Amino acid sequence: MTFSSKDIEPFTAFEWNGWEKAAEAYHDHWGALSTQSALPMLRLAKVKHGSKVLDVATGAGYVTAAAKSIGAVPIGLDFSSAQVELARKTYPGTEFVQGDAQELPFDDQAFDAVVMGFGMNHLPEPEKAAQEAWRVLRPGGAFAFSVWAAPAEGEGFGIVLAAIEKHGVSDIKLPAAPPYFRFADPAEVKAILEPTGFTRVSTVGAAQTWRHSSPDQVFDAFNKGAVRATAMLNSQPESARERIKEVVRAEVCELAQGDEYQIPVPASLSVGFKES
Ligand SMILES: C[S@@+](CC[C@H](N)C(=O)[O-])C[C@H]1O[C@@H](n2cnc3c(N)ncnc32)[C@H](O)[C@@H]1O
Repeated sequence: MTFSSKDIEPFTAFEWNGWEKAAEAYHDHWGALSTQSALPMLRLAKVKHGSKVLDVATGAGYVTAAAKSIGAVPIGLDFSSAQVELARKTYPGTEFVQGDAQELPFDDQAFDAVVMGFGMNHLPEPEKAAQEAWRVLRPGGAFAFSVWAAPAEGEGFGIVLAAIEKHGVSDIKLPAAPPYFRFADPAEVKAILEPTGFTRVSTVGAAQTWRHSSPDQVFDAFNKGAVRATAMLNSQPESARERIKEVVRAEVCELAQGDEYQIPVPASLSVGFKES
């Protein structure tokens, strides 16, 4: 499915409506996983005590909180009012604002670092987000972001997406969307960051492990706590959704370790610098 300028508005509405509904469920199902790469991403961006940090697409505020824990001075931003409300409730006394990653409500050169945890894959115009990160960074600052690694067998996204592909109905109607795993490819990261002006662009892998007490929690996370995957699952006929759930459960059971299920869900972390 190609994504063009006429698709921007419907995709933005789809994402916004999705996150307004999924904020709490994402927090419950995904928060303990995505938080695992928050400090590694902040380290890549050279965030230290006293750094002024903007955490874009903050969700419930995990990266903002991680930055605060190392003495930085963070602000979290998200376009979803439900997410901003949840972030303020989860991390009281921390600053969160509502705004769009592609049109940041901040002055030029206001931050030492801009970071974005698992947000680039949700933006219709990620080039604009990179340009905005550049604009609000002071010379010498860094823009770092995380995305989910491309799906692989026996890993979180690989298990669920393969089950949907094999057992789901494919002719469901969803808004056209940009490629979900685009920025897991280091060449795509360079292709977006270097023309914006960022230098020393690099990408590294980061291991993350999803730990669950029930084998159905992986299916539930995708079924309730996401936007695109949730819409894909909710558009399936009941019988197909049940079959997908069974297949995911069986795969997750293979990953049992003692009384928990440990599912690898690696991330890909990228950084670029605005030279002084
Ligand atoms: C997968 S969640 C990531 C949340 C959190 N940063 C984390 O590391 O788990 C994606 C977040 O991006 C936000 N988002 C999507 N499009 C956005 C946009 N255009 N501007 C700002 N935030 C956006 C959503 O509201 C959601 O909170």
